[in-house]
Amino acid sequence: MAARVLPLLSSFLFLSLAVLAVSAGSDFEDENPLRLVTDARFRGLERAIHGALGNALHVPAFTRFARTYGKTYASIAEIKHRFRIFVDSLQLIRSTNSKSLPYTLGINRFADMTWDEFRSHHLGASQNCSAAASAAGIPNTLKSTAVPERKDWREEGIVSPVKAQGHCGSCWTFSATGALEAAYAQATGNQILLSEQQLVDCAFNFDNNGCRGGLPSHAFEYIKYAGGLDTAESYPYTATNGVCRFRPEAVGVKVRASVNVTEGDEAELRYAVGVVRPVSVAFQVIPEFRLYKGGVFTTDSCKTGPMDVNHAVLAVGYGVEQGVPYWLVKNSWGQDWGLDGYFKMVMGKNMCGIATCASFPIIEV
Ligand SMILES: *[C@@H]1O[C@H](CO)[C@@H](O)[C@H](O)[C@H]1NC(C)=O
Ligand SMILES: *[C@@H]1O[C@H](CO)[C@@H](O)[C@H](O)[C@H]1NC(C)=O
Repeated sequence: MAARVLPLLSSFLFLSLAVLAVSAGSDFEDENPLRLVTDARFRGLERAIHGALGNALHVPAFTRFARTYGKTYASIAEIKHRFRIFVDSLQLIRSTNSKSLPYTLGINRFADMTWDEFRSHHLGASQNCSAAASAAGIPNTLKSTAVPERKDWREEGIVSPVKAQGHCGSCWTFSATGALEAAYAQATGNQILLSEQQLVDCAFNFDNNGCRGGLPSHAFEYIKYAGGLDTAESYPYTATNGVCRFRPEAVGVKVRASVNVTEGDEAELRYAVGVVRPVSVAFQVIPEFRLYKGGVFTTDSCKTGPMDVNHAVLAVGYGVEQGVPYWLVKNSWGQDWGLDGYFKMVMGKNMCGIATCASFPIIEV
């Protein structure tokens, strides 16, 4: 999360300095050493990029990108390497966006990473979640409740802010805390932030692998047997595997049970998301998805099986956009990714396995 906060801080600094500069007149630069230091950093990066790449096409866009996301590159060779990947991303964005699909791609902080790098830093290893096909599923009493036409749990104030997992395949922990934070807010009317790091460090015995992946349903099981999940404040996120430091006295929420949605059953998932609350889901991320910008994502290149899904997230609603039904999903790649940290995935085709591995917790209140 520090990675998200730092660029924000520096752009805030830059903005406030720009305001000062206007009020102080044209000789401001000579008089304010703070401004010189900040600008020097930006100019240093710009000079290094121009030195390495000259005035080639896309160099201004690359410079803007590097500045926006606070990128630092260690050498001329790395600048050239990152620039080549950036240009590949631009080409992928341009060719995809020219196909008039229901979604668009755009430059984001991942535009200078290859797919292999991205996959190893941000996705878990595939894991068999096929036991999710539980006969129990959603209680029948719920199924008789009318399901709304559209749903967005954010409007009811129970969805916590979008977080950033950083360089760690801990998506499953963010999916689980997102579901639990929503369940807590729904049950108590109070907001809470819960510890992803406890799940990263302590849930190995429940078939989870810290930064190398895991399943939200296994996180719920772990929390149930451990006796609760600490608050984020008492057990903060570090984005690396560490030693378990669970403290029962710092527990923010306890889990009574968890419910698996029947594997691949989108109607049942719609009941759960529409009537119960936000639901942890998983799906298969394919290369272009990391550059998603907006619209309803759909593709012919995804698989849907329990061994194919590689990223866990949180379904917080659904709706219809220009005739295309979609799931509204909260991601954990920061607020500046996609639609303010969210994305829409086409509904009705079990697209990329979105209904293959879905579950939600029942908390003790
Ligand atoms: C996944 O788990 C299920 C149920 O435990 C099992 O039947 C299936 O063979 C497993 N699939 C793979 C690919 O391991
Ligand atoms: C839910 O599915 C997971 C596998 O994804 C399985 O390990 C777990 O036992 C299931 N939980 C319930 C309550 O059926």
